[in-house]
Amino acid sequence: APEQDLAGLSVVVSAGGTREPIDPVRYLGNRSSGRQGVAVALAAAERGAWVHLVAAHVDDGVLARVLPHPSIGVERAGTAAELDAAMRAAAAEADVVVMAAAVADFSVPEVSDVKLRKEDGVVTLDLVENPDILKGLVAERRPGQTIVGFAAETAADDAELRERGIRKRARKGVDLLTVNRVGWTQGFESTDNTVLFVDATDEVVAEAAGSKRAVADALWDAVLRLR
Ligand code: C5P
Repeated sequence: APEQDLAGLSVVVSAGGTREPIDPVRYLGNRSSGRQGVAVALAAAERGAWVHLVAAHVDDGVLARVLPHPSIGVERAGTAAELDAAMRAAAAEADVVVMAAAVADFSVPEVSDVKLRKEDGVVTLDLVENPDILKGLVAERRPGQTIVGFAAETAADDAELRERGIRKRARKGVDLLTVNRVGWTQGFESTDNTVLFVDATDEVVAEAAGSKRAVADALWDAVLRLR
């Protein structure tokens, strides 16, 4: 068994991607499988933490790897609004919060109760901006709580990725930002990941590459160095 270096900690992890309904059969979504967030939850549990996992449309096969686990409780959230409510409630009790879920930035304010039909013409969707859940959690942070965000970025090179990560860490106000490069064939839906970690010193404090589990363990190592 791994070293129980997170023993006694209560952590909340969001994983997956939210979906915003358009009509009874369609939604706005993203390509997050939930693999990285689930790996973060599982790594924490195996290192001794109590874990509350908020799963937003995590692939069934991915969730099956952690369910059931004696120290992981799973709650499901579908939309950004549901994820917001679940995270706020769970964060009130948590020592560490990790927002690994990909949240839809926009939602459809007037969801149609009937299927939109092309016979009715080209559809125009009026969108509204969703709340930034992470910013809200940072604003309501409890004393001693560590908050970790994720940033999936497209970048031309390592220098650009770094700069984007440093700026986003400051904008979000998180203690630690996990930055990964994404593209058509990178990041999403794959088993491996390559990330860098930026903290409030505005420096890259660690890097990790390999399985999503290896990246998860590097994340917890970085969190422990901050606590
Ligand atoms: O700004 P961006 O979407 O790249 O930020 C990513 C981070 O912010 C992730 O940790 C994600 O979970 C979180 N986020 C959020 N609420 C949003 C958008 C992103 O909590 N509406």
